[in-house]
Amino acid sequence: MTTPAADLAPQPERPDRLGTERLILRDFRLEDTEAVHAYGSDPEVTAYMPWGPNTPEDTAAFMARALEQQATWPRLDLGLAIELKAEGRVVGSIALHLRDIPNATVELGYVLRRDLWGRGLVSEAAEALAAMGFGLGLHRIAAACDARNVGSYRVMEKLGMRREGLLRQDRLIRGAWRDTYVYALLAQEWAERSRRRSPTS
Ligand SMILES: CC(C)(COP(=O)(O)OP(=O)(O)OC[C@H]1O[C@@H](n2cnc3c(N)ncnc32)[C@H](O)[C@@H]1OP(=O)(O)O)[C@@H](O)C(=O)NCCC(=O)NCCS
Repeated sequence: MTTPAADLAPQPERPDRLGTERLILRDFRLEDTEAVHAYGSDPEVTAYMPWGPNTPEDTAAFMARALEQQATWPRLDLGLAIELKAEGRVVGSIALHLRDIPNATVELGYVLRRDLWGRGLVSEAAEALAAMGFGLGLHRIAAACDARNVGSYRVMEKLGMRREGLLRQDRLIRGAWRDTYVYALLAQEWAERSRRRSPTS
């Protein structure tokens, strides 16, 4: 059996630029800094996140880390900027974190500028990334969110993920204990879902 590390080894085409109907998922560039700061400094965007709201220094540090990580391939954290084609501007980010190589399991995370919420954009990005990940041999895509973060767990459910449990008060964020929902989607479930969606292929 091949490990996902082997599957994620350098490919003829690196899967770090994906196009969808409305989005381009790509590496960050230094000139995205202002656009990244626009969503990362918004307290409503970061309300359920362990980070933020970001200061300009926090955003600069994030960008420096992202640019450094992007120089390496393969890498354990595949964090991609979400560029909205209609704006030609970065409006969020989405990531697969390879946390468990022997079990071919990654963790999915995402964030989007607030004025664009509820238009299906992150679901569109997550579909593309899940297709890429399962195509490369992943077995399981997991995700976790604050139990009050309805928008986030709706993205997971629309992707076909199943809620596996509630972790009670497992995170202390900005002085308050938070409950966490954990979700996951298996390669087999993804394949069945894909077959249901295009029964002829
Ligand atoms: C979570 C987030 C990424 C969702 O992005 P998005 O592009 O708005 O998501 P989508 O439009 O693809 O799907 C969101 C779904 O949740 C629903 N939703 C959003 N907020 C909701 C709420 N408060 N109550 C009920 N449903 C809600 C939307 O209606 C949509 O479902 P629908 O398509 O069935 O109508 C975005 O809200 C965000 O960036 N939040 C802040 C950062 C964050 O919390 N990230 C996740 C950390 S785990």
